[in-house]
Amino acid sequence: MSYPVSSASSSSSAEVDLRSDTVTRPSPAMLAAMTAAPVGDDVWGDDPTVNRLQAVTAERAGKDAGLFFPSGTQSNLAALMSHCGRGDEVILGQRAHTYRYEAGGAAVLGSIQPQPIENEPDGAIALDKIAAEIKADDAHFARTRLLALENTIGGKVLPRAYVAQAAALARARGLSLHLDGARAWNAAVADGVAVADVCAPFDTVSLCFSKGLGAPVGSVLVGPIDLIERAKRARKMLGGGMRQAGVLAAACLYALDHHVQALAEDHANAARLAAGLSQIPEVTLDSVATNMVFARVPEADCAPLQAALAEAGVLAAIAPVSRFVLHRDVSAAGVDRALGVIRSYFAR
Ligand SMILES: Cc1ncc(COP(=O)(O)O)c(C=O)c1O
Repeated sequence: MSYPVSSASSSSSAEVDLRSDTVTRPSPAMLAAMTAAPVGDDVWGDDPTVNRLQAVTAERAGKDAGLFFPSGTQSNLAALMSHCGRGDEVILGQRAHTYRYEAGGAAVLGSIQPQPIENEPDGAIALDKIAAEIKADDAHFARTRLLALENTIGGKVLPRAYVAQAAALARARGLSLHLDGARAWNAAVADGVAVADVCAPFDTVSLCFSKGLGAPVGSVLVGPIDLIERAKRARKMLGGGMRQAGVLAAACLYALDHHVQALAEDHANAARLAAGLSQIPEVTLDSVATNMVFARVPEADCAPLQAALAEAGVLAAIAPVSRFVLHRDVSAAGVDRALGVIRSYFAR
Protein backbone atom coordinates (compact mmCIF):
# COMPACT_ATOMS: atom_id res chain seq x y z
CA MET A 1 0.00 0.00 0.00
CA SER A 2 0.99 3.61 -0.19
CA TYR A 3 0.92 5.75 2.89
CA PRO A 4 0.58 9.49 2.44
CA VAL A 5 3.78 10.39 4.24
CA SER A 6 4.25 13.38 1.96
CA SER A 7 1.32 15.55 1.07
CA ALA A 8 0.25 16.06 -2.52
CA SER A 9 0.12 19.80 -1.88
CA SER A 10 -1.37 22.21 0.59
CA SER A 11 -4.93 21.16 1.36
CA SER A 12 -6.13 24.59 2.36
CA SER A 13 -7.95 25.35 -0.90
CA ALA A 14 -8.90 21.75 -1.77
CA GLU A 15 -12.54 20.87 -1.97
CA VAL A 16 -12.11 17.11 -2.10
CA ASP A 17 -9.29 15.60 -0.05
CA LEU A 18 -9.04 11.84 -0.36
CA ARG A 19 -5.60 11.42 1.23
CA SER A 20 -6.77 10.57 4.72
CA ASP A 21 -9.66 10.85 7.14
CA THR A 22 -7.37 12.90 9.38
CA VAL A 23 -7.83 15.99 7.18
CA THR A 24 -11.33 16.92 8.38
CA ARG A 25 -11.94 20.43 9.72
CA PRO A 26 -13.98 21.07 12.85
CA SER A 27 -17.49 22.25 12.01
CA PRO A 28 -18.85 25.53 13.45
CA ALA A 29 -20.97 23.50 15.90
CA MET A 30 -17.92 21.55 17.05
CA LEU A 31 -15.94 24.78 17.46
CA ALA A 32 -18.82 26.23 19.49
CA ALA A 33 -18.74 23.19 21.78
CA MET A 34 -14.99 23.65 22.19
CA THR A 35 -15.20 27.31 23.16
CA ALA A 36 -18.03 26.61 25.61
CA ALA A 37 -16.19 23.79 27.42
CA PRO A 38 -15.50 24.16 31.14
CA VAL A 39 -11.79 23.52 31.67
CA GLY A 40 -9.19 23.00 34.37
CA ASP A 41 -5.62 21.74 34.63
CA ASP A 42 -5.80 18.15 33.43
CA VAL A 43 -2.36 17.22 34.78
CA TRP A 44 -3.94 17.89 38.16
CA GLY A 45 -7.00 15.90 37.11
CA ASP A 46 -9.03 19.13 37.28
CA ASP A 47 -10.48 19.38 33.79
CA PRO A 48 -14.17 18.45 33.95
CA THR A 49 -14.52 18.08 30.18
CA VAL A 50 -11.53 15.74 29.91
CA ASN A 51 -12.83 13.76 32.87
CA ARG A 52 -16.22 13.45 31.20
CA LEU A 53 -14.72 12.36 27.88
CA GLN A 54 -12.60 9.73 29.61
CA ALA A 55 -15.58 8.38 31.55
CA VAL A 56 -17.97 8.40 28.59
CA THR A 57 -15.46 6.76 26.24
CA ALA A 58 -14.57 4.07 28.79
CA GLU A 59 -18.25 3.35 29.31
CA ARG A 60 -18.98 3.12 25.58
CA ALA A 61 -15.99 0.82 25.15
CA GLY A 62 -17.04 -1.36 28.09
CA LYS A 63 -13.82 -0.69 30.04
CA ASP A 64 -13.14 0.58 33.55
CA ALA A 65 -11.15 3.71 32.79
CA GLY A 66 -9.98 6.04 30.03
CA LEU A 67 -7.09 8.43 29.50
CA PHE A 68 -7.01 11.32 27.04
CA PHE A 69 -4.03 11.64 24.69
CA PRO A 70 -3.08 14.21 22.09
CA SER A 71 -2.54 11.51 19.45
CA GLY A 72 -3.12 7.89 18.61
CA THR A 73 0.61 7.37 18.30
CA GLN A 74 1.18 8.43 21.89
CA SER A 75 -1.81 6.47 23.13
CA ASN A 76 -0.55 3.28 21.46
CA LEU A 77 2.97 3.82 22.78
CA ALA A 78 1.81 4.50 26.34
CA ALA A 79 -0.33 1.36 26.13
CA LEU A 80 2.61 -0.76 24.98
CA MET A 81 4.77 0.73 27.74
CA SER A 82 2.09 -0.13 30.28
CA HIS A 83 1.94 -3.76 29.19
CA CYS A 84 5.66 -4.28 28.53
CA GLY A 85 8.84 -3.41 30.37
CA ARG A 86 12.39 -3.15 29.10
CA GLY A 87 13.32 -6.30 27.22
CA ASP A 88 9.74 -7.48 26.78
CA GLU A 89 8.28 -8.23 23.38
CA VAL A 90 5.12 -7.31 21.50
CA ILE A 91 3.83 -9.40 18.59
CA LEU A 92 2.15 -7.27 15.94
CA GLY A 93 1.47 -7.08 12.24
CA GLN A 94 4.08 -6.11 9.70
CA ARG A 95 1.55 -3.58 8.34
CA ALA A 96 0.37 -2.38 11.75
CA HIS A 97 0.49 1.36 12.30
CA THR A 98 2.06 0.71 15.67
CA TYR A 99 4.92 -1.14 14.04
CA ARG A 100 5.42 0.64 10.73
CA TYR A 101 4.20 4.18 11.06
CA GLU A 102 5.02 5.27 14.61
CA ALA A 103 8.73 5.93 14.15
CA GLY A 104 9.73 2.80 16.03
CA GLY A 105 8.64 4.37 19.32
CA ALA A 106 8.08 1.08 21.13
CA ALA A 107 11.72 0.10 20.56
CA VAL A 108 13.25 3.56 20.79
CA LEU A 109 11.38 4.94 23.78
CA GLY A 110 9.90 1.83 25.39
CA SER A 111 12.84 -0.59 25.04
CA ILE A 112 10.22 -3.06 23.82
CA GLN A 113 11.20 -5.54 21.11
CA PRO A 114 8.66 -5.67 18.29
CA GLN A 115 8.11 -9.07 16.68
CA PRO A 116 6.36 -8.23 13.41
CA ILE A 117 4.50 -10.91 11.46
CA GLU A 118 3.25 -10.55 7.91
CA ASN A 119 -0.45 -9.65 7.83
CA GLU A 120 -2.79 -11.85 5.85
CA PRO A 121 -4.73 -10.16 3.02
CA ASP A 122 -7.67 -9.58 5.40
CA GLY A 123 -5.40 -7.87 7.95
CA ALA A 124 -5.35 -10.77 10.40
CA ILE A 125 -2.13 -12.32 11.70
CA ALA A 126 -2.27 -16.09 11.19
CA LEU A 127 -2.74 -17.89 14.49
CA ASP A 128 -0.05 -20.50 13.78
CA LYS A 129 2.43 -17.71 13.05
CA ILE A 130 1.55 -16.00 16.33
CA ALA A 131 1.94 -19.27 18.22
CA ALA A 132 5.31 -19.92 16.56
CA GLU A 133 6.67 -16.52 17.61
CA ILE A 134 5.73 -16.69 21.29
CA LYS A 135 9.13 -17.22 22.88
CA ALA A 136 9.89 -19.84 25.48
CA ASP A 137 11.01 -18.70 28.91
CA ASP A 138 14.71 -18.89 28.11
CA ALA A 139 17.53 -16.42 28.79
CA HIS A 140 18.22 -16.18 25.05
CA PHE A 141 14.87 -14.62 24.30
CA ALA A 142 12.96 -11.45 24.94
CA ARG A 143 9.88 -12.05 27.08
CA THR A 144 6.81 -12.17 24.84
CA ARG A 145 4.17 -10.21 26.76
CA LEU A 146 1.67 -8.71 24.38
CA LEU A 147 -0.29 -9.29 21.18
CA ALA A 148 -1.33 -6.06 19.45
CA LEU A 149 -3.91 -6.04 16.65
CA GLU A 150 -5.40 -3.21 14.59
CA ASN A 151 -9.08 -2.85 13.66
CA THR A 152 -9.90 -1.65 11.11
CA ILE A 153 -6.69 -2.34 9.25
CA GLY A 154 -6.36 -0.93 5.75
CA GLY A 155 -10.06 -0.22 6.15
CA LYS A 156 -10.86 -3.90 6.66
CA VAL A 157 -12.80 -5.05 9.68
CA LEU A 158 -11.05 -7.96 11.37
CA PRO A 159 -13.42 -10.95 11.39
CA ARG A 160 -14.91 -11.21 14.86
CA ALA A 161 -14.39 -14.98 15.01
CA TYR A 162 -10.72 -14.46 14.18
CA VAL A 163 -10.29 -11.87 16.93
CA ALA A 164 -11.89 -14.24 19.44
CA GLN A 165 -9.51 -17.03 18.42
CA ALA A 166 -6.45 -14.76 18.55
CA ALA A 167 -7.51 -13.55 21.99
CA ALA A 168 -8.02 -17.11 23.21
CA LEU A 169 -4.56 -18.07 21.95
CA ALA A 170 -2.97 -15.03 23.59
CA ARG A 171 -4.70 -15.70 26.91
CA ALA A 172 -3.77 -19.39 26.85
CA ARG A 173 -0.13 -18.41 26.39
CA GLY A 174 -0.19 -15.74 29.09
CA LEU A 175 -0.12 -12.70 26.79
CA SER A 176 -2.05 -9.46 27.22
CA LEU A 177 -3.95 -7.89 24.34
CA HIS A 178 -3.92 -4.36 22.95
CA LEU A 179 -6.01 -3.04 20.06
CA ASP A 180 -5.05 -0.07 17.93
CA GLY A 181 -8.67 0.93 17.49
CA ALA A 182 -7.99 4.20 15.70
CA ARG A 183 -10.95 3.25 13.50
CA ALA A 184 -12.79 0.88 15.84
CA TRP A 185 -15.84 3.11 15.37
CA ASN A 186 -15.79 2.30 11.65
CA ALA A 187 -15.55 -1.40 12.47
CA ALA A 188 -18.51 -1.16 14.85
CA VAL A 189 -20.68 0.77 12.39
CA ALA A 190 -19.78 -1.58 9.52
CA ASP A 191 -20.62 -4.67 11.59
CA GLY A 192 -23.69 -3.10 13.17
CA VAL A 193 -22.40 -3.75 16.68
CA ALA A 194 -21.53 -1.57 19.68
CA VAL A 195 -17.94 -0.37 19.89
CA ALA A 196 -17.80 -2.27 23.20
CA ASP A 197 -18.14 -5.49 21.21
CA VAL A 198 -15.14 -4.56 19.09
CA CYS A 199 -13.15 -3.74 22.24
CA ALA A 200 -14.29 -6.67 24.40
CA PRO A 201 -11.52 -9.18 23.62
CA PHE A 202 -8.75 -6.67 24.46
CA ASP A 203 -7.28 -5.42 27.72
CA THR A 204 -6.54 -1.98 26.31
CA VAL A 205 -7.82 -0.15 23.24
CA SER A 206 -6.65 3.12 21.72
CA LEU A 207 -9.63 4.94 20.21
CA CYS A 208 -9.08 7.95 17.95
CA PHE A 209 -11.37 10.95 17.52
CA SER A 210 -9.23 12.68 14.90
CA LYS A 211 -9.93 10.20 12.07
CA GLY A 212 -13.44 9.58 10.75
CA LEU A 213 -15.07 11.14 13.82
CA GLY A 214 -13.80 14.51 12.68
CA ALA A 215 -12.26 16.03 15.83
CA PRO A 216 -9.09 18.04 15.29
CA VAL A 217 -7.12 16.19 17.98
CA GLY A 218 -7.47 13.40 20.46
CA SER A 219 -7.42 9.74 21.36
CA VAL A 220 -8.57 7.94 24.47
CA LEU A 221 -6.87 4.82 25.78
CA VAL A 222 -9.34 2.59 27.59
CA GLY A 223 -8.67 -0.37 29.84
CA PRO A 224 -8.45 -1.59 33.43
CA ILE A 225 -7.62 0.94 36.14
CA ASP A 226 -4.13 -0.40 36.90
CA LEU A 227 -3.00 -0.27 33.27
CA ILE A 228 -4.50 3.19 32.77
CA GLU A 229 -2.61 4.40 35.86
CA ARG A 230 0.62 3.09 34.33
CA ALA A 231 -0.27 4.70 31.01
CA LYS A 232 -0.72 8.01 32.84
CA ARG A 233 2.88 7.90 34.02
CA ALA A 234 4.03 6.99 30.49
CA ARG A 235 1.95 9.84 29.05
CA LYS A 236 3.65 12.31 31.39
CA MET A 237 7.06 10.92 30.43
CA LEU A 238 6.20 11.26 26.75
CA GLY A 239 5.17 14.89 27.17
CA GLY A 240 1.47 14.24 26.72
CA GLY A 241 0.22 15.71 29.99
CA MET A 242 -1.90 18.61 28.77
CA ARG A 243 -3.32 21.45 30.85
CA GLN A 244 -6.67 23.04 29.83
CA ALA A 245 -7.27 20.18 27.42
CA GLY A 246 -11.04 20.38 27.84
CA VAL A 247 -11.24 22.57 24.72
CA LEU A 248 -9.98 19.54 22.79
CA ALA A 249 -11.92 16.94 24.74
CA ALA A 250 -15.10 18.92 23.98
CA ALA A 251 -14.54 18.34 20.27
CA CYS A 252 -14.25 14.60 20.94
CA LEU A 253 -17.43 14.58 23.03
CA TYR A 254 -19.21 16.46 20.27
CA ALA A 255 -17.99 13.89 17.74
CA LEU A 256 -19.18 11.03 19.94
CA ASP A 257 -22.63 12.57 20.17
CA HIS A 258 -23.00 13.60 16.53
CA HIS A 259 -20.61 11.83 14.18
CA VAL A 260 -20.51 8.11 14.92
CA GLN A 261 -23.51 6.92 12.91
CA ALA A 262 -22.54 9.24 10.03
CA LEU A 263 -19.54 6.97 9.42
CA ALA A 264 -21.98 4.81 7.43
CA GLU A 265 -22.12 7.63 4.84
CA ASP A 266 -18.33 7.48 4.45
CA HIS A 267 -18.60 3.73 3.91
CA ALA A 268 -21.30 4.28 1.28
CA ASN A 269 -19.13 6.90 -0.42
CA ALA A 270 -16.19 4.47 -0.45
CA ALA A 271 -18.41 1.90 -2.17
CA ARG A 272 -19.50 4.60 -4.64
CA LEU A 273 -15.89 5.50 -5.43
CA ALA A 274 -14.94 1.82 -5.81
CA ALA A 275 -17.87 1.18 -8.14
CA GLY A 276 -16.84 4.12 -10.30
CA LEU A 277 -13.16 3.16 -10.36
CA SER A 278 -14.01 -0.40 -11.33
CA GLN A 279 -15.58 0.98 -14.54
CA ILE A 280 -12.30 2.58 -15.62
CA PRO A 281 -10.24 0.02 -17.58
CA GLU A 282 -6.84 1.49 -16.64
CA VAL A 283 -7.65 1.23 -12.91
CA THR A 284 -7.55 -2.04 -11.00
CA LEU A 285 -9.56 -2.10 -7.83
CA ASP A 286 -7.73 -3.93 -5.03
CA SER A 287 -10.15 -3.56 -2.16
CA VAL A 288 -12.93 -1.51 -0.67
CA ALA A 289 -13.79 -1.78 2.99
CA THR A 290 -15.37 0.68 5.41
CA ASN A 291 -14.02 4.13 4.40
CA MET A 292 -10.98 3.05 2.37
CA VAL A 293 -10.45 2.13 -1.25
CA PHE A 294 -7.21 0.72 -2.62
CA ALA A 295 -6.66 0.79 -6.37
CA ARG A 296 -3.81 0.41 -8.81
CA VAL A 297 -2.96 2.64 -11.74
CA PRO A 298 -0.04 2.24 -14.16
CA GLU A 299 3.13 3.66 -12.61
CA ALA A 300 3.69 6.12 -15.47
CA ASP A 301 0.27 7.68 -14.79
CA CYS A 302 0.74 8.25 -11.06
CA ALA A 303 2.35 11.70 -11.10
CA PRO A 304 0.33 13.14 -14.02
CA LEU A 305 -2.95 11.80 -12.63
CA GLN A 306 -2.20 13.23 -9.20
CA ALA A 307 -1.43 16.58 -10.87
CA ALA A 308 -4.65 16.47 -12.93
CA LEU A 309 -6.64 15.76 -9.77
CA ALA A 310 -4.91 18.54 -7.85
CA GLU A 311 -5.61 20.93 -10.71
CA ALA A 312 -9.31 20.14 -10.30
CA GLY A 313 -9.15 20.62 -6.52
CA VAL A 314 -9.01 16.91 -5.67
CA LEU A 315 -6.18 15.84 -3.41
CA ALA A 316 -5.14 12.21 -3.59
CA ALA A 317 -1.85 10.41 -3.01
CA ILE A 318 -1.58 8.51 -6.28
CA ALA A 319 0.92 5.67 -6.19
CA PRO A 320 1.09 2.29 -7.94
CA VAL A 321 -1.25 1.20 -5.15
CA SER A 322 -3.25 4.24 -4.11
CA ARG A 323 -5.25 4.57 -0.94
CA PHE A 324 -8.36 6.75 -1.13
CA VAL A 325 -9.94 7.60 2.20
CA LEU A 326 -13.52 8.84 2.60
CA HIS A 327 -14.57 11.04 5.48
CA ARG A 328 -17.19 13.53 6.56
CA ASP A 329 -15.73 16.38 4.52
CA VAL A 330 -16.18 14.47 1.23
CA SER A 331 -19.72 14.16 -0.11
CA ALA A 332 -21.11 11.85 -2.80
CA ALA A 333 -20.80 14.81 -5.19
CA GLY A 334 -17.13 15.09 -4.27
CA VAL A 335 -16.66 11.40 -5.07
CA ASP A 336 -18.31 11.94 -8.45
CA ARG A 337 -16.06 14.89 -9.11
CA ALA A 338 -12.94 12.84 -8.38
CA LEU A 339 -14.24 10.05 -10.61
CA GLY A 340 -14.92 12.55 -13.39
CA VAL A 341 -11.33 13.80 -13.30
CA ILE A 342 -9.92 10.25 -13.35
CA ARG A 343 -12.22 9.27 -16.23
CA SER A 344 -11.26 12.32 -18.29
CA TYR A 345 -7.57 11.80 -17.53
CA PHE A 346 -7.65 8.29 -19.01
CA ALA A 347 -9.90 9.34 -21.88
CA ARG A 348 -7.48 12.10 -22.97
C1 LIG B 1 -4.44 2.78 12.38
C2 LIG B 1 -3.82 4.00 12.99
N1 LIG B 1 -3.37 3.94 14.24
C3 LIG B 1 -2.81 4.99 14.83
C4 LIG B 1 -2.67 6.20 14.17
C5 LIG B 1 -1.97 7.33 14.85
O1 LIG B 1 -2.79 8.39 15.11
P1 LIG B 1 -2.20 9.86 15.26
O2 LIG B 1 -2.00 10.39 13.90
O3 LIG B 1 -3.26 10.58 16.03
O4 LIG B 1 -0.92 9.76 16.02
C6 LIG B 1 -3.13 6.32 12.86
C7 LIG B 1 -2.99 7.60 12.13
O5 LIG B 1 -3.50 7.79 11.05
C8 LIG B 1 -3.71 5.18 12.25
O6 LIG B 1 -4.16 5.23 10.99
